[in-house]
Amino acid sequence: MTLMDILKHRHTTKAYDKDRKIPEPVVAQLLEALRYSPSSVNSQPWHFFVADNDAGKARIAKATSGPFAFNAPRVLDASHVLVLSARTSLPPEYLQTLADQEQADGRYANEEARALAHKGRSGFVSLHEQAGDIPVWTQKQTYIAQGFLLLSAATLGVDATPMEGFDAGILSTELKLEEKGLAPAVIVALGYHSDADFNARLPKSRLPEKAIFSRI
Ligand SMILES: Cc1cc2nc3c(=O)[nH]c(=O)nc-3n(C[C@H](O)[C@H](O)[C@H](O)COP(=O)(O)O)c2cc1C
Repeated sequence: MTLMDILKHRHTTKAYDKDRKIPEPVVAQLLEALRYSPSSVNSQPWHFFVADNDAGKARIAKATSGPFAFNAPRVLDASHVLVLSARTSLPPEYLQTLADQEQADGRYANEEARALAHKGRSGFVSLHEQAGDIPVWTQKQTYIAQGFLLLSAATLGVDATPMEGFDAGILSTELKLEEKGLAPAVIVALGYHSDADFNARLPKSRLPEKAIFSRI
C-alpha cells in the first residue's frame, strides 16, 4: 500500500474483535513509534500506560462511564489500550535527565556543545513557565506522539481508536497521575475491528482542499 492508500484506508474503529490480539513484535513497533516521536527541544514530556490484559483495560474503562459509556466497549474489547499522558512540569532535574541521555546517545562532540543545548532547552522551558502554559505545551507534544502512533498502526495493519471521550478526573485518580506529575491527554485503543465496526464501511468525510489550504 502507498502512503495515500494507508491514509485513506485507516479509520477510527468503533468495535473490536475481542478474540484477536496484536502480535508482540507488532506491539513493540507501535511502542517504538511513540518513543521515536519528535517533540519540541526533544522534551519528550510524556508517559504512556499500556494495558494488554483485561484487568488493565478495566481500570482504564472506569473513565468511560456516564456520558462516555459509548467508548467503554472499545476500551474493553481492544487488544491493547494505551493512555497517553503528559508531564505537568519540566523541572531542572528532568531537563538534566534529558541532557544526560543525549550525552549518552552521542549527541555532543564536546562539553561546550552539551552546555549550549542544555541552555537552549532550559531557555525554552523558562519561556513557557513564564507564560504559564507548560501543561498545554506538553499536551501538544503528546498529541504529536498520538499522530505517530495512529499512522504507525495503520501502516502495520492495526486498527485504532483515539479517544478524548473519557473522564479525566477518574482516569487521573485510577492511575495516580497527579502524584506522578502527569495529566491524561488521550486514550488510544488498538486491535482489529469486528463486523460491528460500522465506521469500516462508511466513506471518509473531509473538508475540500480549497477550504483548508491557502497558497500564499
Ligand atoms: C484527539 C481525538 C479524539 C477522538 N475522540 C474520540 C472518541 O472519544 N471516541 C470515538 O469513537 N472517536 C474519537 N475520535 C475519532 C474521530 O471522530 C475521527 O478521527 C474523525 O471523525 C475522523 O474519522 P477517521 O478517524 O475515521 O478518519 C477522536 C479522534 C481524535 C483525533
